Amino acid sequence: MIPTLKKYIENIAKQTGIEFELKTFGKETRLPSLMEVAIFRLVQESLTNVVKHSQAKECLLKVEFQKEKIYIIISDNGVGFDLHDKSKDGFGLLGMKERMKLLEGELVVQSTQGRGTKLLLAIPIKSE
Ligand SMILES: Nc1ncnc2c1ncn2[C@@H]1O[C@H](COP(=O)(O)OP(=O)(O)OP(=O)(O)O)[C@@H](O)[C@H]1O
Ligand SMILES: [Mg+2]
Repeated sequence: MIPTLKKYIENIAKQTGIEFELKTFGKETRLPSLMEVAIFRLVQESLTNVVKHSQAKECLLKVEFQKEKIYIIISDNGVGFDLHDKSKDGFGLLGMKERMKLLEGELVVQSTQGRGTKLLLAIPIKSE
């Protein structure tokens, strides 16, 4: 999963000029393939948002493997947005929330206007 993510962010970095950084912590374990696909889609959706909305110069993707959970943080230093502004609701974040329910994980979105956006994901690792 990590090599795939790495290639993916290298690609969008080239296309967009945004500086992406990937940091991994803990021992990388292979996850059940359905989980890996779901996680890849989540990251893809959140990075698409960074590209589309954030105007960020930098974006950091942190992935931490623990024994029973994988933690992912996607943070950008862009414009941020108002979490309470319902007129901004799209299918991206909604889809991510649905996906996280299926994975029985947790998703927290933090954003401050002018200060960037941070998504925190915690997903339990389950064997298939
Ligand atoms: N990283 C970000 N920086 C700034 N604003 C963001 C960021 N991520 C999301 N937003 C704001 O939150 C809104 C909702 O995001 P969401 O992904 O749900 O919808 P969308 O990207 O507008 O549309 P869709 O994902 O359906 O194509 C966005 O329209 C945007 O205003
Ligand atoms: Mg979106």
